[in-house]
Amino acid sequence: MAWSAEQYLKFEDERTRPARDLLAQVPLASAQAVYDLGCGPGNSTELLVERFGLSAVTGLDSDADMLEKAAARLPRTPFLSADLAEWHPPVPADLLYANAVFQWLPDHVSVLDRLMDGLLPGGVLAVQMPDNLDEPSHMLMEETGVAGPWAARFAGGKLRRRPLPTPATYIDRLMPKSTRVDVWHTHYYHPLKDAAAIVEWVKSTGLRPYLDAAGPEHREDFLADYTARIAKAYPPMADGRVLLAFPRLFVVAVKKG
Ligand SMILES: C[S@@+](CC[C@H](N)C(=O)[O-])C[C@H]1O[C@@H](n2cnc3c(N)ncnc32)[C@H](O)[C@@H]1O
Repeated sequence: MAWSAEQYLKFEDERTRPARDLLAQVPLASAQAVYDLGCGPGNSTELLVERFGLSAVTGLDSDADMLEKAAARLPRTPFLSADLAEWHPPVPADLLYANAVFQWLPDHVSVLDRLMDGLLPGGVLAVQMPDNLDEPSHMLMEETGVAGPWAARFAGGKLRRRPLPTPATYIDRLMPKSTRVDVWHTHYYHPLKDAAAIVEWVKSTGLRPYLDAAGPEHREDFLADYTARIAKAYPPMADGRVLLAFPRLFVVAVKKG
C-alpha cells in the first residue's frame, strides 16, 4: 500500500499542528541525536531541525514517495528507509519523536517499550497518534464497506485499524523505564470547505486500505457512496463549512537516569 505525499500535504497546516503541540512538551534544552520516526514528507522533521539544528536530526520512513519528498524539502538532512517494527537507533538517542505513525503498527506498545532502551538517560520518547476510529469519518468507511456490491471484499472487518490501548496501558508499560510518562488527549476541530474536503483528508490515510480493497472497478462508486454518508454526518455550519472533529492521543516518556 503506497502513500501519496502530495495527497497527504493537502492539509499540511492541520496535520502539522499536533506535531508542534507534541514537540512543545519535549523537555530537552538541546539534543545531538534526534530521530523523526515515520517522518512522512518531512513536515515534522522540519520542526525538529528548527528546534535542535541541522546536524542533530535524522528522518526515517518505510515509504519511498515520502522519503523522496522529505529529501527534496530538507536536502541537508539524512532520510533513511526503515521499518519501525524492527528499527533500533544506531547510537543512544536524545529524542525519538513520532507524529502520526504508531497507530499503524500492530502491538506498538511493545515497540515503544523496546525503543525506550535506545534512549540516553534523560532522553525522551514523544509520540502522537490519531484516536479517531469512533468518529463518523472512520465509522462510515466500515459502513460503506458492508453496504455495496463490493461487500464481499470487506467481510470480517479486517481493514479497520486496531483501537489504541487505554492511556493507563502506556503508563504501565513505559513507567518502569521512565522518570515520568505524560499522557493526554486533544480534540482538534478542523473547519473544512465541505464533505468532499473531509473525504480528501482521509484519502491519504485512513481511507487508503478501503479504496485499495474496493479495487479499480468499484473505487469511484465506493467513494461516491462514502461521500454521501459523510455529507449527512457532517452538516454545514452557519458559514457553509463543515467541522471535522479529530481526537489525538499524546505520550511523552522521559528515560530514567
Ligand atoms: C501519517 S504520516 C506522518 C508524517 C509526519 N510524521 C507528520 O507529522 O505529518 C505516517 C508515516 O508513517 C510511515 N510509516 C507507516 N508505517 C511505518 C513503519 N512500519 N515504519 C516506518 N514508517 C512507517 C508512512 O510511510 C508515513 O509516511
